Amino acid sequence: MIFRQLFDSVSGTYSYLLASRTGGEALIVDPVLEKVDRYLQLIRELDLRLVKAVDTHLHADHITGLGALRDRTHCITVMGENTKADVVSMRLAEGDKLAIEGLALDVLYTPGHTDDSYSFVMADRVFTGDTLLIRGTGRTDFQNGDARMQYESLFGKLLRLPDETLVFPAHDYKGDTVSTIGEEKRYNPRLQVKSVDDYVVLMANLHLPNPKMMDVAVPSNIKIGLHQQDVAKRGWALTADKAIALLDRPDVAFVDLREAGERLKHGSIPGALHAPYGDLQENIGEGGILRELARASDKRIVFYCAFGERSAMAVQAAQDAGLLAALHVEGGLDAWKRAQGPIAP
Ligand SMILES: [Fe+2]
Repeated sequence: MIFRQLFDSVSGTYSYLLASRTGGEALIVDPVLEKVDRYLQLIRELDLRLVKAVDTHLHADHITGLGALRDRTHCITVMGENTKADVVSMRLAEGDKLAIEGLALDVLYTPGHTDDSYSFVMADRVFTGDTLLIRGTGRTDFQNGDARMQYESLFGKLLRLPDETLVFPAHDYKGDTVSTIGEEKRYNPRLQVKSVDDYVVLMANLHLPNPKMMDVAVPSNIKIGLHQQDVAKRGWALTADKAIALLDRPDVAFVDLREAGERLKHGSIPGALHAPYGDLQENIGEGGILRELARASDKRIVFYCAFGERSAMAVQAAQDAGLLAALHVEGGLDAWKRAQGPIAP
């Protein structure tokens, strides 16, 4: 496995680059905007292909690199389903898997620092965001933070992982890089409380100043969605209503770009072909199934995904590859459902 812990000294943020092999797919957790060039250089040097960029929560102390990484690599942006970010390509809930080639992380919902805080668990390690820090825990006094919920996330979930589990947090300000669950249970001063009420009192008495970047970072991190209107202006977008009207047309093929797990959980457009976004270049290239479909049957391809981001990127890629009749459903299956479009289980 390739595992790199990357540090932004301005915000004290750790970002993590993961891949199962050289030449394979990569995932980055909690990237910082100012470091995007560095990440992309490293990804090139290690011969990786970035396919997912994930934030553990909506950050208040730095601007996320999610949007810039998506725009520069066409990777998928991922956050938890409770996030207030306007659009991310994929939203995960507890019990879901965050998967790339050769790696699958379990998603835990660990609110308390914010109400959109998630942790990601691999076999021997956990990415705890700002829920559990090394000898600390994330503050709970803004962004719908809640010390009571954080206590539950810590004692009910994270501290139940095996003691030897490595803890990789989103921040450290003291120079520590990694800990273990057992070590934190014993030596983290915030965890030496007797009850949830003790924890609430402890957290209420921290009186921390607001992060310097907060007034800039939070509004910016909420608005990270891809500009789907740019795709619409070029005439490549269908509103959900217009797409629903095309449903049974013989000259139209709906193509679902989501992963199998998303289809299973949220249903799909009846009769749609499944061609995951990760295989897009292959599928629209010479001899690819989507190119053959368009050529052989003169079908108009209508891409869709969860929220319209992957499909907007796919329609651009298809146009670039010469599939000029490709369109996409603006707002994805989410918009389709809101417009009362039919759903196949
Ligand atoms: Fe945070």
